[in-house]
Amino acid sequence: MAGTNVVLTAGTMVVTVLICFLKVQLWRTQPSHKEDTLEREFRNCTKIFLDLGANRGTHIRKLFEPEKYPDAKYLQIFDRLFGPPTFRQQPSKVTGLCAIGFEANPRWRDTFSSIERAYRDKGWHVIFYRVAVSNRTGKAVFYKNDFNGSNSGWGFSRHKHNRERGRQHWMQGAPPVLVPIRDFGVFLQQLNATAPSGTRLMKMDIEGSEYDVMLELLENGQLCKHTLDMITIEWHPWLFRDRREVLAQDSFLRRTIQESRACASGPQADIWDFDDESYLGDGQPLPRPRL
Ligand SMILES: *[C@@H]1O[C@H](CO)[C@@H](O)[C@H](O)[C@H]1NC(C)=O
Ligand SMILES: *[C@@H]1O[C@H](CO)[C@@H](O)[C@H](O)[C@H]1NC(C)=O
Ligand SMILES: *[C@@H]1O[C@H](CO)[C@@H](O)[C@H](O)[C@H]1NC(C)=O
Ligand SMILES: *[C@@H]1O[C@H](CO)[C@@H](O)[C@H](O)[C@H]1NC(C)=O
Repeated sequence: MAGTNVVLTAGTMVVTVLICFLKVQLWRTQPSHKEDTLEREFRNCTKIFLDLGANRGTHIRKLFEPEKYPDAKYLQIFDRLFGPPTFRQQPSKVTGLCAIGFEANPRWRDTFSSIERAYRDKGWHVIFYRVAVSNRTGKAVFYKNDFNGSNSGWGFSRHKHNRERGRQHWMQGAPPVLVPIRDFGVFLQQLNATAPSGTRLMKMDIEGSEYDVMLELLENGQLCKHTLDMITIEWHPWLFRDRREVLAQDSFLRRTIQESRACASGPQADIWDFDDESYLGDGQPLPRPRL
C-alpha cells in the first residue's frame, strides 16, 4: 500500500512539473498579447483616425456622429479624408473606418466605456487606450491642472500649469497622479505593420508631450505618407518652465516640417497646426442602446 502511494505521489509530481514546463513554453512561443490583439483589432481598418489626447472622446464622436456637432472645425478634415457623414455612419465592416483614442486622464474612464459600448452596438470600431502617449513605455507623473473640473479636463499634463483667464499662473496645488505611458512610435510601427494600407489621420493635442513624440516619429521615419496621411497638431511651448530647450525643439521641428524634410523615404505626411476646441464640454447624448 505504502509503495503504491509513493509511486502515485511521484507520478503526480512528474505530471505537475511537466504541465508547468509546457505552460511556460506555450507562453514563451505565443506572440505578446498586445501585438496579437492589435493585429486582430485593426485587420479590417482601411481608414484610421488616431486621436492622441482624446480628452472625453469628443473628436471621435464628431467623426461618427457629426450631426450632433454642427460647425465643428474638424468636420471638414473628416469629410475630406474619410468621406461624407452619410458614408461614415455605416458600420465599420462596410466603411473600414476605425478610431483609436489615447487618453490617460482617469476622469474619463467611464465615459470611454459608455462610448465603446454604444458604438459597438452601431457597428463602429472604436477603442480608447487609457494611457498617455510618450517616447517610452512605463509610468509617468501627470498633473490634474483642472481646478476641480472647471476647465473640462484639458489641462491634464506632465506639466503643472493653469492658463485660466488668459493669464498663465503655475498652479501649486494641482494633484499629481501616476499614469501608464506608451511608446507611440512602437505602437505606430505595429499598427503600420498589421493594418491594411489605407487612409490614416492623426490628431495630436497632448499638452507638451508632443515634442518627445514628434522627435521620436521624426527619428523613426514615421512622419511619412506611407505611415500617416495627415497630422493635425497643437504645439504647447508655453507649458514649459525652462523655455530655452523647448523653443529650440519647437523651431527645429517646425522648420523641418515646413521645409518638407521630415521624411527621407518618400513624401512627408501633411502636417497642420490645427486645433478644434469646439464642444469642449460635449454633453451630447450617445446613440440609444439596441433593444
Ligand atoms: C474582419 O472582416 C472579416 C470578414 O468580413 C470578419 O470575418 C472579421 O470578423 C473582421 N474582423 C474584425 C476584427 O472586425
Ligand atoms: C477643489 O475642491 C476642493 C474640495 O471641494 C477644495 O478644497 C479646493 O479648494 C478646490 N480647488 C480649487 C482650485 O478650486
Ligand atoms: C524622450 O524625449 C526626451 C525629450 O526629448 C529625451 O530626453 C529622452 O531621452 C527621450 N527618451 C527616449 C527613450 O528616447
Ligand atoms: C508602413 O507600411 C508601409 C506599407 O505597408 C511601408 O512601405 C512603410 O515603410 C511602413 N512605414 C514604416 C515607418 O515602417
